[in-house]
Amino acid sequence: MEDQLILGIETSCDETAASVVRNGRQVLSNIISSQIPLHRKFGGVVPEMASRKHTENITGVVDLALKEAGVTLEDLDAIAVTRGPGLVGALLVGLQYAKGLAFALGKPLIGVNHIEGHISANYIQYPELEPPFVSLVVSGGHTFIVEVRNYRDYVVVAKTRDDAVGEAFDKVARALSLPYPGGPQIDQLARKGNEDAIAFSRPKFHEETLDFSFSGIKSAVLNYLNSAAQRGETIVPADVAASFQKAVVFNLIDHAMQVAVNRGYHRIAVAGGVASNSYLRHNLVEEGKKQGIEILFPAAVLCTDNAAMIASAGYYQLQAGDISPLSINAEPNLGLRL
Ligand code: KG4
Ligand code: ZN
Repeated sequence: MEDQLILGIETSCDETAASVVRNGRQVLSNIISSQIPLHRKFGGVVPEMASRKHTENITGVVDLALKEAGVTLEDLDAIAVTRGPGLVGALLVGLQYAKGLAFALGKPLIGVNHIEGHISANYIQYPELEPPFVSLVVSGGHTFIVEVRNYRDYVVVAKTRDDAVGEAFDKVARALSLPYPGGPQIDQLARKGNEDAIAFSRPKFHEETLDFSFSGIKSAVLNYLNSAAQRGETIVPADVAASFQKAVVFNLIDHAMQVAVNRGYHRIAVAGGVASNSYLRHNLVEEGKKQGIEILFPAAVLCTDNAAMIASAGYYQLQAGDISPLSINAEPNLGLRL
């Protein structure tokens, strides 16, 4: 089969990204223009500012992705773009740009699900990886355990019922006066702390479930900080970070391992921004060794939002003949249903 070159475009949140990927696996360029310094001043992403920045950056980012890959627009086989989930105004910038390119060039447009993109980052990291496997999707907006039965065939086994895990990291970091985004900050700070200093217990559900809930533990941390301050006790931020991280990460590990073991899978591929958490990486690998389950993680640059993962997912969508009409709209609340 002939090589397929796909341009991926990602603007669902605060990264303007473009990438050229060959045959879904080989990254020829991966340009990411992060808006983190801009949003940091406000402690989180300001949607209107994100859209405006995407508009300013998109042309330059796409041009650079083509230049670094050494290809022209005419060489491309398709344009893949995130259509959701994400911030509606931010998504629209990438989507309009991709539609314009697809129309002008007469090439297929492929509207990609951002969550499917995160999972596909593993295909880039592990060129031999084929489904089936279990994926633990952990990002700022999503927390899922998914059975990846085949390309484009997903069964969601568990999800969060409230906050996403990255969101919980970010909120706890904020309470500890750490800068945005808080996940990497907690990761760093926790290394200096005692993970058994404070017992933050797990949520209890009435029924048997592998679903998650992170808002309770986030509130428990905030309550702990408030009452310690009221009593005039010294707070050790590193201990709070380490204890919070331990509770959350082992919750993720336990549930993901249960899904893999009970459903007869031998691999768990982790995805999303929180997949770069060093404590999760270390402990999940250790747990995997005990239970004979292989644990896969994309490199950090493929974990947080990027367009290479969108181009990879777009490749498998193109193979399946799932081409989008130019009339597709942004879908801010898109789930992992295809
Ligand atoms: O996948 P991503 O870039 O965006 C979404 O699709 O949400 O994930 C961003 C999230 C943020 O909540 C950030 O704090 C978190 O990933 N994150 C981390 C780490 N690196 C990024 N959380 C914990 N530990 C990290 N090392
Ligand atoms: Zn993401």
